[in-house]
Amino acid sequence: MLPFQTLISIDKKTSMPVYLQVANRLIALIREGIIKPGAALPGSREMAALLQLHRKTIVAAYEELYTQDWIQTIPRKGVFVAQHLPEVKPRKFTQGVSIPPYAGNTGFPFSRQLSLPTPATRIIKQRLVINDGFPDMRLAPMDLLLREYRSLISNKTVQAVMERPDPAGVYALREAMVPHLTTTRGLSIQTNNIMITRGAQMAIYLAANLLLQPGDYVAVGEPNYYMANLVFEQAGARLIKIPVDEYGMDIDALAAACKKKKIRMVYVIPHHHHPTTATLSANRRMQLLELVRQYKLAVIEDDYDFSFHYDSAPILPLASTQHEGCVIYIGSVTKVMTPSARIGFMIAPENFIKQAIYLRRLIDLRGDNLMEAAMAALLRNGDISRHIKKSNKVYHQRRDLFCALLDEHLSGVINYRKPAGGMAIWAQFHPKHPLPVVAARAAEMNLFMNDGASYITGKTNYNALRIGFASLNEKELQEAVSILVRATRK
Ligand SMILES: Cc1ncc(COP(=O)(O)O)c(C=O)c1O
Repeated sequence: MLPFQTLISIDKKTSMPVYLQVANRLIALIREGIIKPGAALPGSREMAALLQLHRKTIVAAYEELYTQDWIQTIPRKGVFVAQHLPEVKPRKFTQGVSIPPYAGNTGFPFSRQLSLPTPATRIIKQRLVINDGFPDMRLAPMDLLLREYRSLISNKTVQAVMERPDPAGVYALREAMVPHLTTTRGLSIQTNNIMITRGAQMAIYLAANLLLQPGDYVAVGEPNYYMANLVFEQAGARLIKIPVDEYGMDIDALAAACKKKKIRMVYVIPHHHHPTTATLSANRRMQLLELVRQYKLAVIEDDYDFSFHYDSAPILPLASTQHEGCVIYIGSVTKVMTPSARIGFMIAPENFIKQAIYLRRLIDLRGDNLMEAAMAALLRNGDISRHIKKSNKVYHQRRDLFCALLDEHLSGVINYRKPAGGMAIWAQFHPKHPLPVVAARAAEMNLFMNDGASYITGKTNYNALRIGFASLNEKELQEAVSILVRATRK
C-alpha cells in the first residue's frame, strides 16, 4: 500500500475544508500517475486511521471523488480508482487556437444610450465611504435572517411554496405586512393590495411604466431622487419640476402647473425627501390630496424612509386617507436591513397590482422567495420591529453627533438643515468648495464621497450631496469630518 500518511498532508490553517484537501490531493496523485487507474484505495475507516482524521471526513472526500468520476465503489469489494479517468491531462483551450477578443461594440446598428449619472460599477478603493443614506448592516439582525434561511431550507411547507411561487410575493410576507403596515402607517389594506418587489426601485419602475404613456407630464420635486427621474424619462414622460423647500414639495406651484398642463402623475416623497431630507408638511399634504381628487391625479407616494424618526412621530401617508384609489404607495425594507436584501413593496388597488404582477413577470419571474419567507418570519415574531426601535436610537445619536461635528468644524463650508429623521443630511457646500475638487482630495485621504453630479437634475448645480450618517459609527463619523475639514482647507 502507498504511504498515504506521507503523500497526503493536511493544512489546518487554510480555509479549505479538510475533506476537499484530501480529495484534491488524491486527484493530484492520480494525475501524477502515483496512483494508477483501477488501483484499490484503502476503505474509509482504514484511510481515516492512516491520516488520523475522522472517518466522516474521508467519506466526504470519497463522495467528492465519486461525484467527479475519479473513483468507483464496487459493493463488498471496496473503493477503486476509475479505469477511465475523467481528465487525464489538463486541457488548455488556448493551445494552438487563437480566440478573438469579445467585441467591444455590437456589429448590428444599436443606438440606445442609457446612462446613469453615477457610474454604478465604479470600484471604491477608499477605506471610508460616505453613502447617500444606507442603514448600518452591522446593527441589522442578519444572523436571525440567516437562521430563518437555514431552517426554511429543511421546511417542507416552504419547499412547496418554492415549487409553486406566488408572483405577487410570498404570501406569508404579504400576510405579515398587513398588520405591520396597519399599525405603523394606518393603511387599511388586504393581502391582495400588496405586491412584494425587489426594493422600492422596482416598484417605482413598475408603477411608472403601467401609468405613463410617452409624452405624459409627470410632476416631480426639484431637486428629486434622480433614479426616479430617470425611470419616468425612460418611460417617455416629460418632467414638470416643482420646487422643494423645507416643507417639502411646493403644492401651490403644483396647483399652478395643474392649471397649465394635463398632469398625469405626481411623484412625492413624504418623509425625508431625497435629496433634501424635508418632510412634507401636514398643510401641504391636505392641499395635495385636494388636487389629487380635483384632477384625478395618479400619485406615486415613495415612502422609502418611513421607519426612522428622531424628533417627532411620522406623518401618516397619503395612502392612509380617502384618496379615491389615486395613491400608489411604495416602501422599502432595504433601508431597515441592508441595501442588499432587495425587498420592497407596492400597495395599490387590486386591479393595478394585478397588472404590476404581469409586468414584473416579463423581467423577473419571481422574487427571492427564500429571502421573502425569512423576512416574513422576522416580521411576524417582532424581530424587525425590535431592530427598527434599536437602530432608531443609534441613528438618532449618530445624527446628533454628526450635526454637532459639522457645526463645530465645518460651519461656513457646509450648509444643511438638521433632518427630523432618515439616514442622511443634504449638505450644500459653499461655492468656494466645488464638490468635484473636495471629492478628489477626500479620495486621496481614503474617504470616498460622490461629487454631487447626480443631484444636478435640473439647471441648478446645488454643489451638494447627501451624506449618510447612519451607517458610520462614532469613530468613523469623526474621521469623515476630519477628512472633510482637510479637504476643504485652502
Ligand atoms: C427616494 C428613494 N426611493 C427609492 C429608493 C430605492 O430603494 P430600494 O433600495 O428599496 O430599491 C431609494 C434608494 O436610495 C430612494 O432614495
